[in-house]
Amino acid sequence: MRVNAYLSRAGIASRRRADELVRAGRVRVNGELASLHTLVGAHDVVEVDGRRVALEPLAYVLLHKPAGVVTTARDPQRRRTVVDLVPRKPRVVPVGRLDLDTTGALLLTNDGALAHRLAHPRYEVPKVYEAEVEGVPGPEALAALREGVELDDGETAPAEARLVATRDETSLLELTLHEGRKHQVKRMCAAVGHPVRRLHRKSYAGLTLDGLRPGESRPLAPAEVRRLRELVGLA
Ligand code: URA
Repeated sequence: MRVNAYLSRAGIASRRRADELVRAGRVRVNGELASLHTLVGAHDVVEVDGRRVALEPLAYVLLHKPAGVVTTARDPQRRRTVVDLVPRKPRVVPVGRLDLDTTGALLLTNDGALAHRLAHPRYEVPKVYEAEVEGVPGPEALAALREGVELDDGETAPAEARLVATRDETSLLELTLHEGRKHQVKRMCAAVGHPVRRLHRKSYAGLTLDGLRPGESRPLAPAEVRRLRELVGLA
């Protein structure tokens, strides 16, 4: 793996920050100054500022993200982040993103290969959202959500959309998406005339929040990790 990936897996820094350490000449591999292209294997000796670093074990954590917490590993504005809500070691980072006000299932891991594939639209990983929207979406709006909505970054892929309940002024929609663009659910619902008031992700790649209250997290079981790997062709 590249030296930045190694430093990230060693819990030293994000890949971007690791690149900065390399550029600053603070990283050595087998005694030689590392470059951004240096490759590192399991038996190489990696040092940062003269101190040896080692890989951390792979870790996979499912978090019930509460509202008001930012989905990032480090927030320049120093707000509370999802990483603050899960065990510190091994260092894990979120796969994809939920908006500040969105609640629900969020996976965090230090397994870069798995995270990359889960986030890639090619693997069509299912994400199930519960959206409280304004008004009552009729058959045309539901058909548009299912077949594809034209957004400023292109038409959305086919999705599943189901009207679950209607209330006084709002309705509850269940949407299953197989891609993950920025603010996608909010933009899709707004585009069909039903802006989102509240958004919750019920499940991510088949992982549901059973037993987890907002702010709580749990490690994945080995069988769950195996299933995720199979889902994206890494088995
Ligand atoms: N779509 C959104 O609009 N927001 C989210 O947080 C997730 C999906």
